[in-house]
Amino acid sequence: MDRRIYFDHAATTPTDPRVVSAMLPYLTSAWGNPSSIYFEAREARKGLDDARRTVASVLRCKPNEVVFTSGGTEADNLALRGVATAARGRGDHIITTAIEHHAVLHACDALAKEGVRVTYLPVDGEGFVDLDALRAALDERTLLVSIMYANNEAGTVEPVAAAARIVKAYGRHIAVHTDAVQAAGALDLDVDALGVDLLSIAAHKFYGPKGVGALYVRQRTPLTPQTVGGSQERNRRAGTENVAGAVGLATALRLASDERSARTAHVAALRDRLLDELPRRVPGTIVTGPRDGARRLPNSASFAFEYVEGEAVLLQLDLLGVAASSGSACTTASLEPSHVLVAMGVPERYLRGSLRLTLGHENTMADVEYLLDVLPPAVAKIRALAPAPPVYMSRSTATGVSNKPRGSGDDGGLRAGT
Ligand SMILES: Cc1ncc(COP(=O)(O)O)c(C=O)c1O
Repeated sequence: MDRRIYFDHAATTPTDPRVVSAMLPYLTSAWGNPSSIYFEAREARKGLDDARRTVASVLRCKPNEVVFTSGGTEADNLALRGVATAARGRGDHIITTAIEHHAVLHACDALAKEGVRVTYLPVDGEGFVDLDALRAALDERTLLVSIMYANNEAGTVEPVAAAARIVKAYGRHIAVHTDAVQAAGALDLDVDALGVDLLSIAAHKFYGPKGVGALYVRQRTPLTPQTVGGSQERNRRAGTENVAGAVGLATALRLASDERSARTAHVAALRDRLLDELPRRVPGTIVTGPRDGARRLPNSASFAFEYVEGEAVLLQLDLLGVAASSGSACTTASLEPSHVLVAMGVPERYLRGSLRLTLGHENTMADVEYLLDVLPPAVAKIRALAPAPPVYMSRSTATGVSNKPRGSGDDGGLRAGT
């Protein structure tokens, strides 16, 4: 199979050649340690400082509020652990959502073992966080609220600004963090408009290099470093900086910001074609996440097939030249259903059949049409081979009712395909 189509941009993106060009000098000639004082170091220092200024210009913050990290996971860990440890005397309660990335959820698990109370806010059938539950969860011991900007599995764009207003209205200082790893490149990152004190991004999700990210930390937000050693990053993250990586991140972020409207219009057209057409072509399919394109990541189309193993679909697609994801945390070793789909109340019979298609600006409508042609027979083939249930009941069981909590016996806001 010569033809390869990459539909997994939420996992990572190809590195933009312009980003590689911008990084190269910092891997070749300007290789000095930016903390040193001599000539060789100065160019590296300048590259790092310029990168920080560029990131700050996109986030509309001050350069010294940007901390470079090794990626989204480290940025999330630094935000949660850093705030929880620094503000320990003032409180011991963190509020987050049930559908965060594991970088946040596992950081919360670790903090819970250290005595921090964690409240997990529920979401509705499309993945939107319950803001009334947020209001009710705030208390005198709350230190931090962490709500992701956009969900990596369902594409749901969370009402972060509205959540931040609720938190700020509570009357005592509670830090607000958002994991913007999937949003960066697609949505506006103005930290004041969002009302956040901390925001995480990762370069490889917007055509930058892997292994570099950044955490925005609003001035005067108490933050204990989680990596100690040297005094780099203003004592917030020790270790010799990844200068080329920071330059790559900044270049990719600037390009994503400058080209955002063209890129999002292009991928949104492909997304809408998939959201409309795929459930029509594959019986027993629901769209997971929002149907309203304005409240969904422009490049994200996600589905679940009734009585199908998502992994089998992915393997078939790979043979047909298409790279896609189940979007769930399930690995080949542990076929746990996705915590995101479970929290959204997706009925059991769909839980193992998720498919996430995340688009990039290099994808074309021809790529989408190819997928729409090859997927229905692939799913039909898998269903024909599946041992249980013995007879696939097409068009029968998927109904579309919204916002019912999990276990309420309906399809929790998911539209049925026909
Ligand atoms: C929402 C979200 N947060 C955090 C991460 C982790 O980022 P990284 O891979 O850069 O550590 C990811 C990666 O998939 C993500 O989608």
